[in-house]
Amino acid sequence: MDRRGQSRRNFLKCSAAALAAGAGFTAPATALSHPHPLRKLADERNLRIGPAVAYNPLVNERSYYHTVRHEFNILTPENAMKWAGTHPQQNQYTFTQADAIFNFGVAHGLAIHGHNLCWQSANPSWLTNGHFSRDQLITILQDHINTVAGRYSGSIAAWDVVNEALNGSGNLASGVWHDGLGTDYVALAFQFAREADPNALLVYNDYSIETVNAKSNGLYNMVQDFQQNGIPIDGVGFQMHIDINGINYASFAQNLQRFADLGLALFISEMDVRMPLPATDAKLAAQANVYANILAAVLNQPACYAFQTWGFTDKYSWIPGSYPGYGAALIFDENYNPKPAYDALAAELMTG
Ligand code: G3I
Repeated sequence: MDRRGQSRRNFLKCSAAALAAGAGFTAPATALSHPHPLRKLADERNLRIGPAVAYNPLVNERSYYHTVRHEFNILTPENAMKWAGTHPQQNQYTFTQADAIFNFGVAHGLAIHGHNLCWQSANPSWLTNGHFSRDQLITILQDHINTVAGRYSGSIAAWDVVNEALNGSGNLASGVWHDGLGTDYVALAFQFAREADPNALLVYNDYSIETVNAKSNGLYNMVQDFQQNGIPIDGVGFQMHIDINGINYASFAQNLQRFADLGLALFISEMDVRMPLPATDAKLAAQANVYANILAAVLNQPACYAFQTWGFTDKYSWIPGSYPGYGAALIFDENYNPKPAYDALAAELMTG
């Protein structure tokens, strides 16, 4: 059996156990109290809507598990499919957490958005401290993508193939791949991903590319260059980590349109809307407005494939740790109660 066959066999072997680990919860009242969950409304609009999902609360908290299952039709593993999560040693892969999230999603009819196959962060120390040659890094990158994307090939909707490669000027930033392998690392990653999974949408994912600016211009040029040179790229993920002041919505719509005109699938891939704490009614209303405005633009753009948030409950969010004094960025509060932002998204899906 070849390596991919072996890895798929292992995958099937651990599926049942991983699923059973999360499937024993009974539904809490709060998670089932919305008669029109977002996923039902989104299905009716042919849109995928859903969060980044973390392993620990998924397997330990029934409110977390049931809210994801009930409310959403797509998920992204927040950390479990990153290099640090799947490839702890050069010759060792581990898929316990990635498989559990993947199997949960498949079992409940959620599409899976893989995240990610090549990034300068969240890498294991054997890679960052390894002092590998260019040829060695090419082999390492290809083996990783072949193993990880190959494992889920045929069952995953999209992969963030390369994550956050550009700096604010729209040029490639330095990092382990750029510095060790050279500027063609992005193209190589996309080629390896296509070989590993011919069916997944292959996505470039980044932040601060939502509007027309130097960084999104750099990305636009890179995508055009790829298309002219036969490098497979199918989509762009606009992360959308923003605050309650919102963004320039006209520029956002214009930016989506120019990437749509390149024939790409578009993702709002990691949205959250932070606010200075404490949350007040006025800030929550402003936040709801921002979420609704972004969703309205998505619903107006046929190339948009998914509207995704980076988490869904304020109980688990990267914002307070990275923006001291800020938080309350998601659509459910810390007790899994829907916030005004949730109601605004539901209303937009119904009437927008
Ligand atoms: O799981 C370990 C734990 O065992 C250990 O004790 C602890 C000590 O620091 O670390 C834990 O791992 C942390 C992990 O999150 C899980 O909580 C890592 O240190 C921490 O670096 C990691 O941060 C993640 C970050 O990406 C880097 O991978 C965040 O959760 C995650 O939300 C964030 O997500 C990124 C996207 O991938 C890309 N776009 C931006 C977005 C937000 O930064």
